[in-house]
Amino acid sequence: MIQIVSTVEEVRNIVKAEKAKGKSIGFVPTMGFLHEGHVSLIKKAKEENDFVVVSIFVNPTQFGPNEDYSIYPRDLDRDSKLSEHGGADLIFHPTVDIMYPKGSKTTVEVSDITERLCGASRPGHFKGVTTVVTKLFNIVAPHRAYFGEKDAQQLTVLQKMVKDLNVDIEIVPCPIVREEDGLAMSSRNVNLTSEDRKAALVLSRSLRTAKEKILQGEKNVGTIQSLIKSIIEEEPLVAIDYIEIVDGYTLEPIEAVNGKVLIALAAKVGKVRLIDNVIMEG
Ligand code: PAJ
Repeated sequence: MIQIVSTVEEVRNIVKAEKAKGKSIGFVPTMGFLHEGHVSLIKKAKEENDFVVVSIFVNPTQFGPNEDYSIYPRDLDRDSKLSEHGGADLIFHPTVDIMYPKGSKTTVEVSDITERLCGASRPGHFKGVTTVVTKLFNIVAPHRAYFGEKDAQQLTVLQKMVKDLNVDIEIVPCPIVREEDGLAMSSRNVNLTSEDRKAALVLSRSLRTAKEKILQGEKNVGTIQSLIKSIIEEEPLVAIDYIEIVDGYTLEPIEAVNGKVLIALAAKVGKVRLIDNVIMEG
């Protein structure tokens, strides 16, 4: 049976004992309600490390006041089965009081690249992410940590943070896992009604069309953005937050597709905010 612990001390003791045996430690931070996307990260971590820690913590500091913290789905029993199935050895499942004891005054913030894309519509979101991930890194002290390209901006921000702060942990990017019909897997998908679920397919479809257009030779960012917008606007249940085509390394705005690009979008489908993206060479 997979071990589940909730205190910092327990994780530290277990990880220290594994390291003393010469074992390498892989880490997969999550907010739980795991799906095959998360499991793919756990499997990759297990392939590349001897001992794998999964954290399950719905981090309140990365949610805005009108966001879905209270209705974010939670199911530890199911999560522990899926983690074990993926090959995890330990689950760290702390309470909010453990992660944020009264009187905490320190945060970690990456500037500039956190202000665009999701950062523009979710002020403070990335500060919550970088703060909690720094804390988790300090608690678990892994050799490698696994993050999905589903949250492409989060991945870039964390890579920057690790580089800027000389954090000695390798960040390993993992590809997006999708449902058979193309919808990017997300814990939030359970909050979609069946009508919303059908409507949400327009997001991945619009990205696929954009990708084909680029592969056919289209370079103009404005043209590709308009194409994506016109496809999504045909779906009345979907409200676009942003559609951005940016440099795939720096997230800087670009005018023409040249080299690695990130095509990222966010939209509200019914009450649920979804994100999706394509990373490609153009
Ligand atoms: P969460 O949304 O639970 O995602 C945990 C990890 O799983 C992230 O690295 C995310 O990119 C990855 N992931 C989610 N859906 C995926 C999919 N369809 N395919 C591949 N990977 C996928 O991201 C967070 O939690 C939090 O912000 C966290 C980093 C844990 C900090 O609180």
